Amino acid sequence: MLQYSQPDFWSLKARKEGYPARSVYKLKEIDEKFGVFKRFRGKILDLGAAPGSWSLYVLRRIGAAGSLAAVDLSPLSRQYDKGLFDGENVRFLQGDMNSADIREAAAALGPFNVVLCDAAPATTGNASVDAIRSLALSETALEYAEAMLAQGGAFVVKVFQGGDVALLLKRIRSLFSQGKSFKPQSCRKGSFETYYIGLGKKS
Ligand SMILES: C[S@@+](CC[C@H](N)C(=O)[O-])C[C@H]1O[C@@H](n2cnc3c(N)ncnc32)[C@H](O)[C@@H]1O
Repeated sequence: MLQYSQPDFWSLKARKEGYPARSVYKLKEIDEKFGVFKRFRGKILDLGAAPGSWSLYVLRRIGAAGSLAAVDLSPLSRQYDKGLFDGENVRFLQGDMNSADIREAAAALGPFNVVLCDAAPATTGNASVDAIRSLALSETALEYAEAMLAQGGAFVVKVFQGGDVALLLKRIRSLFSQGKSFKPQSCRKGSFETYYIGLGKKS
C-alpha cells in the first residue's frame, strides 16, 4: 500500500479520536449520508479490516447489542481499541478473503445485516493493474454479500476507478433495492477510490 510521509488533517484527527487509520472518516461520512448503522444493525462483517478503524467505528456505533466479524491478511492494531476487540461479540479471522477457509469461517458467523469491504491490494504504481486487483477484491466482497447478507441488509464496498466498475454497480443495483456511488470528502486528493453502497438486499 502507498505510504504517505506527512500526516494530514484526517490522520491527525484519527489519532486524536483514537482510530489507527484516517479511513474511519470515509465510513463515518457514508454512515451519516446513508444511515447505515441507524437503519441496519445486528451482525456486521468487515472485510479488509486492518488496522481496524472501521471495526472500531462499528463497535463504538452499535454497542454490545450487535456483533462484528472482521477479516484481514494482517492483524488488527490493538493501539486504540481499549479491549473492545476482546469482546465476546467480536471475531477476527486472519487470512485471505478469497480463500475457501475464510469464506466458510465467515459464513458460519452469518447471516449478516451489513457487509463492509475496504480491502485494497498492495499498490504497484501501475494504475491499471491496481484497478484490476481492486475490482477483483470488490467482486469477492459482493460474493460474500450475495451469500451471507440477510434480506434487507446493506453493503458498502471500496472500488478503484479504472476497472470495469460499471458492471459491479449494475450487479449491486440488481441485488439491492438501491445502489449508490459515493466519494467521501475525506478520500485523499487525487485518489481513484470511491465507494458503492447497496441498501436493502432483495430476497
Ligand atoms: C485500506 S486497508 C483497510 C483499512 C480499514 N478499513 C481500517 O479502517 O482500518 C486495506 C486492507 O485490505 C487488506 N487486504 C487486501 N487484500 C486482502 C485479502 N485478499 N484478504 C483480506 N484482506 C485483504 C489489507 O491487508 C489491508 O489491511
